[in-house]
Amino acid sequence: MKQYKVGIIGATGMVGQRFVTLMENHPWFQLTAIAASPRSAGKTYEQAVAGRWAMKTPIPQQAKDMVVLDAQADVEKIASMVDFVFCAVDMKKEEIRALEERYAKAECPVVSNNSAHRWTEDVPMVVPELNAQHLDVIPAQRRRLGTQRGFIAVKSNCSIQSYAPALHPLRKFGLEKVLVCTYQAISGAGKTFERWPEMVDNLIPYIGGEEEKSEQEPLKVWGEVVDGKIVSAQSPSITAQCLHVPVSDGHTAAVFMSFANKPSIEEIKQVWAEFKGRAQELNLPSAPKQFLHYFEEPDRPQAKLDRELEGGMAISLGRLRPDTQYDYKFVGLSHNTLRGAAGGAVLLAELLCAEGYITAR
Ligand SMILES: NC(=O)c1ccc[n+]([C@@H]2O[C@H](COP(=O)([O-])OP(=O)(O)OC[C@H]3O[C@@H](n4cnc5c(N)ncnc54)[C@H](OP(=O)(O)O)[C@@H]3O)[C@@H](O)[C@H]2O)c1
Repeated sequence: MKQYKVGIIGATGMVGQRFVTLMENHPWFQLTAIAASPRSAGKTYEQAVAGRWAMKTPIPQQAKDMVVLDAQADVEKIASMVDFVFCAVDMKKEEIRALEERYAKAECPVVSNNSAHRWTEDVPMVVPELNAQHLDVIPAQRRRLGTQRGFIAVKSNCSIQSYAPALHPLRKFGLEKVLVCTYQAISGAGKTFERWPEMVDNLIPYIGGEEEKSEQEPLKVWGEVVDGKIVSAQSPSITAQCLHVPVSDGHTAAVFMSFANKPSIEEIKQVWAEFKGRAQELNLPSAPKQFLHYFEEPDRPQAKLDRELEGGMAISLGRLRPDTQYDYKFVGLSHNTLRGAAGGAVLLAELLCAEGYITAR
């Protein structure tokens, strides 16, 4: 397989550190440039993350001595060094939109973790197992941007990964109504317990903007490409509440669902067990072998026990049972900074390479 040179924009942050860690020993991707704000630019990566390295494994050797570039001042330079960039920065939305377009217009594909472009009509928001066909919109986006190579592709919000994958193959039964409560880890806010001591022994019932994302993003993922734009699906109707809980990593979702053509519990479990997406068909390096794992044990999935399943890229499910107000209820779990953030973006980049949208220069 070809090797691709990769840049990470926002490499010093929580998601950026995950990207750096995931590039170590990646079979296709070679970490070539790292960039962050002017506060970090000019320092070695080791100096720039001193006192805030949040990963459980040490800083990869290959990254330690790399000099951090300035994400905004060095766009052209970075674009000339790499085949594509991952982007995960904490800036104002309009600044992120502009920055990502600058990279794309410099003919550097952008695989983004940020939410800024999720609702841009010709930007695909892709979970590789669910809607790989949305990459078909990229030629239209390139026409708008006036580029040959450059484009932006985004991953969806971390919260939806704990329930949308399980709902996806059940839509054929006429999925009509979904109620979901998410119990979200503090790393989703870029935090650890050391940096957010208020979360120890606590629960905060508010995550700004998260409920809207949780209700609307699955509908874009289930939408269709029409005339160079992605048109969202009209159903199911989804209502969500999102809470921060004192868990380091791993978002849990308690889900209730109703169907027009109600399947049996056995049918649902069989659909989950047999489900494979484009990522599995292409045997992408970061794709879990079994995407949806169902646990029969009544007290699973648990964040601490199950979040690392298949490298943190699988979705864990359990407790499927009838409900008194909806047809069924179940619990889902996904690793929010792996499947939900950097890992999901790495899998998307692998898909873009395998499908020929990102090429090695
Ligand atoms: N944490 C998650 O689980 C998660 C999940 C999905 C999506 N996201 C999204 O991913 C993005 C990053 O989140 P995070 O949790 O990694 O944030 P973070 O830990 O606060 O890191 C922010 C990064 O952005 C850089 N940055 C800040 N201001 C900048 C500027 N003016 N110019 C260039 N770079 C700048 C920082 O560089 P310095 O170190 O130099 O300041 C740092 O590398 C956000 O858009 C977030 O919504 C996060």
